[in-house]
Amino acid sequence: MSGDRLTASASGALAGTIEVPGDKSMSHRALILGGLASGTTAIHGLLEGEDVLHTAAAVRSFGVEVERLGGGEWRVTGGEWRSPAGEVDCGNSGTGARLLMGAAAGFPISATFTGDASLSGRPMSRVLDPLRDMGAKVEAGPGDRLPVTIHGGGLSGLDFVNTKASAQVKSAILLAGLHASGAVEVVEPAPSRDHSENMLRAFGVEVETSGATISLGARRGLTATEVHVPGDPSSAAFPLVAALVVPGSAVTVTGVMLNPLRTGLFTTLVEMGADLVIANERDFGGERVGDISARFGALRGVTVPASRAPSMIDEYPILAVAAAFAAGRSVMHGLAELRVKESDRLAAIIAGLVACGVDAREEGDSLIVEGLGCSPRGGAILDAHHDHRIAMSFLTLGLAARAPVVVTGATTIATSFPGYADLMRSLGAKIA
Ligand code: S3P
Repeated sequence: MSGDRLTASASGALAGTIEVPGDKSMSHRALILGGLASGTTAIHGLLEGEDVLHTAAAVRSFGVEVERLGGGEWRVTGGEWRSPAGEVDCGNSGTGARLLMGAAAGFPISATFTGDASLSGRPMSRVLDPLRDMGAKVEAGPGDRLPVTIHGGGLSGLDFVNTKASAQVKSAILLAGLHASGAVEVVEPAPSRDHSENMLRAFGVEVETSGATISLGARRGLTATEVHVPGDPSSAAFPLVAALVVPGSAVTVTGVMLNPLRTGLFTTLVEMGADLVIANERDFGGERVGDISARFGALRGVTVPASRAPSMIDEYPILAVAAAFAAGRSVMHGLAELRVKESDRLAAIIAGLVACGVDAREEGDSLIVEGLGCSPRGGAILDAHHDHRIAMSFLTLGLAARAPVVVTGATTIATSFPGYADLMRSLGAKIA
């Protein structure tokens, strides 16, 4: 039974071969791009988590035909977007909100975007400022927070140099740029995940990438296509790290997306001495995928350079849990962005680890975890803070701690990983 309060207790060896739900980033993009394309796009393996379901409803509210056939099979028939009748509720999803704002800004329509308590506290100026520069009219709450109303249309091009690597910002500009006159270029300090670029190309749009510079070409119309969504590496991280820390475990996750801009966690775990093996690498729907096996074993502390952050930005909570079990200090640099995710993740990671008997602290934008080289005490009651990854990370810790870990507000897990608790139980995890 997956409730709002989940308790993870010391488990026997986890074993089995599983699949995880479809990639969240690709699922949002498949719906939005399908909604912009002429013709009917077939989506296979869509993540049916709440974040993506909010995006599906949002796309539908713009007048797009969005149909669920069942089991991750969706059909989207796109075209010109209309002003929605009501507010566009993006739920907990920063990706949904920011990409939809960009896409909607291209049309001569008005739309008001809202979200839950977590999303309403997150900064939107990172996308609103470039959209304003392109000519969109924006009304926003104090500090550019939600609710945000965008009056779009008549956009001009933009040459945007970002100070941080952000796929959401890059994608919002590219999506608005589909209907802009003039050149559209985004320069990042380092490449962020490139799913928008890859998928736009699959829909027939001309997108050029040179290092961390991305530009739209003259061909900006989208034609419906077929999208296959592989397993989400950010979800696979939870059963895989559980296998690394629960004694005797051996778990395989099949069909995990291995885009190199998403696999920083796996690189880091191997540097920590993890027995992590990738097999059966293959191409799947325009992305690399593989089967990842993890076996329990000793881990050692690691230093993660800031340059790796874009490729594992969502994985620091679960890496910090792995670091708690590792022998010696782990230091993770360049984590300023963690403060503005679904929660202040830096604060939530540190508070959770300390409550579980692990010494952790921040220094500037770095996180320091003093690994125990054995199981932490656990024995804490922690709130998820509307943050699915915080919830799953501390449940993972509880599976190998000396005393159970309780997570309240755990229904937030359904935003990205519906069926998480049942899937973990099928491996032998004690989650009640
Ligand atoms: C995402 C980009 C990242 C990531 C988020 C998903 C995306 O955010 O944290 O979970 O799908 O574009 P930023 O663009 O803010 O780094």
